Amino acid sequence: MWEKAANPGASMTSLSPHLPGFAPQVSAFCTELAGFREFGSATVCGEFGGVPVFENEFWTAKQREGHSLQEVSYRACFKPSLPGFFIKRFTKPGDAVYDPFMGRGTTLIEAALLGRRPVGNDANPLCIVLTAPRLAPPAQDEIEKRVREIPLDAAADAPDDLHVFYHPDTLREIAALRAWFIARRESGAFDAVDAWIQMVATNRLTGHSVGYFSVYTLPPNQATSVVAQRKINAKRDQTPPRRDVRAIILKKSRNLLKDPMPDTPMLPGSLYTGSAASTPGIAGSSVALIVTSPPFLDIVQYKTDNWLRAWFCGIALDGVDVWEFRKLPDWSAAMRGAFAEFLRVLRPGGLMAFEVGEVRKGTVRLEEEVVRIGHAAGFTPECVLINTQDFTKTSNCWGITNNERGTNSNRIVVLRKPE
Ligand SMILES: C[S@@+](CC[C@H](N)C(=O)[O-])C[C@H]1O[C@@H](n2cnc3c(N)ncnc32)[C@H](O)[C@@H]1O
Repeated sequence: MWEKAANPGASMTSLSPHLPGFAPQVSAFCTELAGFREFGSATVCGEFGGVPVFENEFWTAKQREGHSLQEVSYRACFKPSLPGFFIKRFTKPGDAVYDPFMGRGTTLIEAALLGRRPVGNDANPLCIVLTAPRLAPPAQDEIEKRVREIPLDAAADAPDDLHVFYHPDTLREIAALRAWFIARRESGAFDAVDAWIQMVATNRLTGHSVGYFSVYTLPPNQATSVVAQRKINAKRDQTPPRRDVRAIILKKSRNLLKDPMPDTPMLPGSLYTGSAASTPGIAGSSVALIVTSPPFLDIVQYKTDNWLRAWFCGIALDGVDVWEFRKLPDWSAAMRGAFAEFLRVLRPGGLMAFEVGEVRKGTVRLEEEVVRIGHAAGFTPECVLINTQDFTKTSNCWGITNNERGTNSNRIVVLRKPE
């Protein structure tokens, strides 16, 4: 159906038997992708099961990362340009855009900045802490006033082990800040300004520069264990330096708020904590577009990586059912359940962009599994879009050391709910 010779020699998905009962259709979107040349290279076209596959640089690493509000780290987050690409093409202002595995809320923030109505869900309660405050950001002067009011010298408990990350005075301030949020919640006084400060402080807990509360450690989206940090300290011959908790929070707040906000106020978000496979709070046929990225196979341990953030926010992750599958059949079974729910919440004709990244050095093609699962669930597979990028400095959210060179790809299956 598509010209495979756009880039002779390039290896693409081989021809495979058509999905049962699948009748390929040429959509305007596919035509656009096939002829896409915005960043210089031509699209490589292939197909899988009769579904067209397009590979190119559809959004570029050379573009800036996105709005400053997006600059919050989280494991395996995608870049704002990914949801932006689909939101701009497939929705109008006021439409609901949903991410059932929202993470740090990249899709929701992008949707809100573009005047769409953000809807999000994640099994990890931390995701609401990270996302909600940025959908209703307070003014910098309100943040400054509150940060100065919080009694950081108040006595509060903290596990002794945490001295492996923090200078004793810094840890005292972190513990006082944590106790402030807990007390404000208990008294019903916790407000949008507290929520903002909690989100920023959560992000500043650990990292590898002076902009974080901790001594040098792993990138900020990934807290290492106390035992491993002891080894890092010994190897680097380091002891945690004193950090100015207030100054770090204020600086990061200024950075997050530095880009202009949209002219029209952002629409309020609807955010849920729970399984993507069961979202009774979201009305049937209410969503125009889903842009999402599920947990991949055995790549990220969301609970382990977030243990320190969860402690700081008073969240118990033990009983939280975060999907961490090692075997493809288990992953597929979970996704089948979730896809039935996605079909329910999407409006007829609505689209889902489902991103699966590269798994086990490309030996497992999750995107092909997603095509099969989507088709069996009742979606019409429209295409697979593979965005390839060279990079010199990776964002921390991919968990790769800064200043390395390499490539990565986003593998996105585009599925439509039939009219
Ligand atoms: C790849 S990350 C999503 C990152 C997101 N796209 C972003 O930019 O931050 C996958 C997310 O799925 C969440 N998750 C895992 N199991 C889940 C489940 N059963 N239901 C909903 N969310 C789940 C994890 O907590 C994690 O935040």
